[in-house]
Amino acid sequence: MQKKIKVIPLEIVLRNTAYGSLCKETTIKPGALLSKPLIDIYLKNDELNDPLITKDRIELMNILSSHDLELIINLTLKINVILKSFFKNIQLQLVDFKLEFGYDFKNNIILGDEISPDNCRLWDLNQKNDIIVSLDKDRFRNDLGGLIEAYSEIHRRINDFLKLNW
Ligand code: TMP
Repeated sequence: MQKKIKVIPLEIVLRNTAYGSLCKETTIKPGALLSKPLIDIYLKNDELNDPLITKDRIELMNILSSHDLELIINLTLKINVILKSFFKNIQLQLVDFKLEFGYDFKNNIILGDEISPDNCRLWDLNQKNDIIVSLDKDRFRNDLGGLIEAYSEIHRRINDFLKLNW
């Protein structure tokens, strides 16, 4: 069901495994499993190039109260538990994902945007060696080719799983 929301101008990224900008901006090695999920929050602002932002700056800019920020962080952690286990069932490692939230007409915070291989990193767990096989938008971002095949593979695995389990 689609609902209208007032979008909160933040991108909430949760990382289970180090990759992408985390490895470009720190000394953490690509593929390192994080001992606990890392939440990185970015300000949605094209002119500023969506910078990484701190909790204090979010409050300072009156984007969100600390209560609502905690709520969003806790929702993101809960969504991670559900998604990680769902994708593991279909032999996919949930590396990281990006969520956006908004306020509905009753001022409740709800999840906005989609959850798809456009905003998740999903690695194939069906690989015998340690090579990374991305079945997500990194195929396009890193010019790897096979984007349609990768998305179709995820679609096939989800359909097969749902047929067996629902
Ligand atoms: P990053 O490693 O480039 O920061 O990306 C982390 C995750 O967030 C990855 O799953 C891709 C997703 N993402 C988006 O969906 N939209 C964006 O604009 C960015 C920068 C990342």
